[in-house]
Amino acid sequence: MSKRPILKRILVVGAAAFLLLQLWPVERTNPATGPSALQAPPEVAAVLRAACYDCHSNETRWPWYSYIAPISWQVAHHVEEGRAELNFSEWGAYRESKQLSLAEEMLEQIEQGEMPTWDYRLAHPEARLEPAQVEVLRRWVDGL
Ligand code: HEC
Repeated sequence: MSKRPILKRILVVGAAAFLLLQLWPVERTNPATGPSALQAPPEVAAVLRAACYDCHSNETRWPWYSYIAPISWQVAHHVEEGRAELNFSEWGAYRESKQLSLAEEMLEQIEQGEMPTWDYRLAHPEARLEPAQVEVLRRWVDGL
């Protein structure tokens, strides 16, 4: 017996399953940015926007692949978790002690290569921070 019909069936079932996955609703929200948004010097804001804002602010740029399940689930999950841990759109509403500890944590995460996440760095060359950009952040954090 030829294997073709089985292969064809697998492909059809696979395609149908893929289409079904697309029906699962995914929340891609960008809540309004109010007066609590971080006010940082332009060079600091530029680095954070390039490397962190997609997951750590309400100003997420949702890429095309964030519309395709199952990748969309991963992206939406990262944004939800990222905002919960640190949201630059809510920065001004954090207590000063929280701002300071988050700021230190930011540098640590960057230096350990944990942030931005590896999959994000893969898709976003502008998020692979140069030492000079990390230095910009460090000087800002030291002055907080
Ligand atoms: C692709 C999404 C994404 C990007 C981009 C991203 N983060 Fe995160 N970040 C997360 C997620 C998800 C978490 C929570 C889970 C975790 O700690 O791994 C997190 C957690 C954190 C935390 C809290 C860590 C802890 O354990 O308390 C800090 C601080 C942080 N990120 C800083 C940054 C900084 C700074 C940048 C930019 C240089 C950045 N992140 C870019 C997704 C992201």
